[in-house]
Amino acid sequence: MSSPAPNTPTFTLDAMQFFGRLGREYEQMFARPLASLVGLHVLDCPSGPSSFISELHALGVRAVGVDPLYAESADTLLARGRSDVAHTIAQMRANPAAFADLDLEAYGAAKLHALEAFARHFADERNRGLYVAASLPALPFADRAFDVTLSAHLLFTYSDPSTGGLLTNSPFTPEWHVASVRELMRVTRGELRLYPTTTRWTKPCRHPLAELVERDMRAHGLAVRYEQSSFARGNHANDALNACMVITR
Ligand SMILES: C[S@@+](CC[C@H](N)C(=O)[O-])C[C@H]1O[C@@H](n2cnc3c(N)ncnc32)[C@H](O)[C@@H]1O
Repeated sequence: MSSPAPNTPTFTLDAMQFFGRLGREYEQMFARPLASLVGLHVLDCPSGPSSFISELHALGVRAVGVDPLYAESADTLLARGRSDVAHTIAQMRANPAAFADLDLEAYGAAKLHALEAFARHFADERNRGLYVAASLPALPFADRAFDVTLSAHLLFTYSDPSTGGLLTNSPFTPEWHVASVRELMRVTRGELRLYPTTTRWTKPCRHPLAELVERDMRAHGLAVRYEQSSFARGNHANDALNACMVITR
């Protein structure tokens, strides 16, 4: 039997998932301790049902989360999040080879923990402007409003499987990616961190849309580097390619 082509998708989803992570998972993804953000103005886009904003607020950090679904009520988001966590974990269980190094029980429990912490904070704080309903590539913020911007599991991840992502019939084109990163940098004074940056292919490589974004940022005079991530995301968690992209002025 011949082995699959190196760019065969190892995992796909048929819809965007309202699925979010804990603060400690943000630390791993972005190679930045939460404590290093104290005193800074932070943007998380998309923030989804992550507990990151609530955890930063507990540390006294000024932080804003953005997601188009923040137009909905806390109850609607909690129900949507529970359903999407169950769906995503079931899909992951159906593809064990792609997630060989993950304990899916613990992984799913962490996502529910994040969702519940998010929903409580969102219900209490949404009227204070901490959670903003908006969609890339258009953000309702002034130029260079944030010191640090973080963006996980939307760009690259939700591109079409043919380009290295996991969303079948993805609406997120190469042009959308370039416009979105330009917009994220427009509102960022210091650094933008993007994660993950690899394909979900049999033989993972740097995501072609990450390379496109990298070329576009360099062409605009911005500096781009990669920093090693320790976030476990399946079949290539410890690979040297498991890194966040850091864009600075
Ligand atoms: C998988 S979640 C990631 C949440 C968080 N960053 C994390 O890694 O845990 C992806 C989120 O992207 C949001 N989203 C979809 N389209 C978007 C857009 N055009 N601009 C910003 N966020 C979007 C979805 O609503 C969803 O909550």
